Amino acid sequence: MKTVITSVGSYIPKRRVTNDELAEHINTSDEWIRSHTGIGARHIAEDDEASSDLGYRAALDAIERAGLQVRDIGGIITATATPDHPGFPSTACIIQDKLKAQPIWAFDIAAGCSGFIYGIEAARGMLQLGSTDHILVIGTEKLTSVVDWNDRNCVLFGDAAGAVIVSASTADDEGRGILCSELHADGAGADALIVSVGGSRHPMKNGYQDISDITLRMQGRRVYNFAVSVLVSTLKSLLEKTNLTIDDISYIVPHQANIRIIQAAAKRLGFPNDKFYVNIENLANTSAASIPVALREMEDTGLLKKGDIIAAVGFGAGLTYGGNIIVW
Ligand code: ACO
Repeated sequence: MKTVITSVGSYIPKRRVTNDELAEHINTSDEWIRSHTGIGARHIAEDDEASSDLGYRAALDAIERAGLQVRDIGGIITATATPDHPGFPSTACIIQDKLKAQPIWAFDIAAGCSGFIYGIEAARGMLQLGSTDHILVIGTEKLTSVVDWNDRNCVLFGDAAGAVIVSASTADDEGRGILCSELHADGAGADALIVSVGGSRHPMKNGYQDISDITLRMQGRRVYNFAVSVLVSTLKSLLEKTNLTIDDISYIVPHQANIRIIQAAAKRLGFPNDKFYVNIENLANTSAASIPVALREMEDTGLLKKGDIIAAVGFGAGLTYGGNIIVW
C-alpha cells in the first residue's frame, strides 16, 4: 500500500527574540551568532504554553488544510524532546485529549531532532497495518524550557510545532507518496547532547548540583562534525536507493540546526546551496518541529507543489539520524 502526505500545518509562538536582545543578557553578539550559525532570531513560547499546546495548534492547522475532521484521524504520533511531563503521560495523549478525538492510539517518539523523520516512517508502517487511513505526525518543541539562559549555546534554540497528516493513498494521489525512508541510531554518542538529571538514571527527587544538570548540554564541535557527516551519507544513500539524481530533487529540507552544517554538506556533495531549503534565520533550531515547519512555509510561499520530489533529512540527540524521499 502507498502512503502520502495529505497536508502540513504549523504553529509559531508570537514572541520573537532577536540576537541583540539576547546579547543584552549574555556574553554574545548578533555578529557572532549570525556568522557561526545563520540565526537572526527565535520565537519563544509563553510561560503557560507547553509542547502539547503548540502541537495541538499545528495539528488543527494540518487537519483544516487537509479538509478533514478530527474524527477522520486514526492515530497520533508526537515527536518531541521536550514532552509536557517526563514520561507520564505522553504528549501525544495530551494532544489527543485537546483535539477531543475519540480514544485512538497515541504515542511519543523520543528521537531528538530526527523525531519527525522517524514519525513519518512509523506512520507509514502503521498505515500498512490497515486499521486507519489518516495519521497525524506532529513535531513539537518548547526547547526554551530546557536551555540554560546562562549557557551561550542557548542562542541556538527556539520553540515551534509542525504537523502532517500521513494517509493511505487513493486513486487521486497517482505518482505521489513517501518513496523511501532511512533511520539510524548511534547510542555511543548519547553524551554529545544530553539532559543529565530528571530521568530514572538520576531522578530529580535526588536533587541536582547545578542548573547545567537539568538543562541541555551539547558538545558543539562534536555534534557539528556528526551532523555534516550524516547529512552527506543519508542524502547519498537515499538517492542511491531511489535511483534518483540531485537534478530530480526539487528541494532538500534538512533539519535546521546551523547554516554552516548545511553549507559544509552541500560542498562535500557538490550540490548547489540553493537546493537546500533554509529558514533558520528567523526561527533558529526547533528540533523535531523544524522540518514540518519548513514544509508548511514552502507550501505557503509556492516553493512546494504537488508532484515535487523532496528529500527531508534529520539528525540529533541519541545520536539519531535519517531521511525520507517524498513525492509531494
Ligand atoms: N556567542 C559568542 N561567542 C561564542 C558563543 C556564543 N553563543 N559560543 C561560543 N563562542 C565562542 C567560544 O567561546 C570560542 O571563543 P574563543 O575562540 O575565544 O575560545 C569561539 O566562539 C569558538 O567556539 P567553538 O565552540 O569552537 O565555536 P564553533 O565554531 O564550534 O561554533 C556552535 C559553536 C555554533 C555550537 C557549533 O559547534 C555548532 O553549530 N555545532 C552544532 C550544533 C548543533 O547543530 N546542535 C544541534 C544539533 S541536534 C539538535 O538540533 C538538538
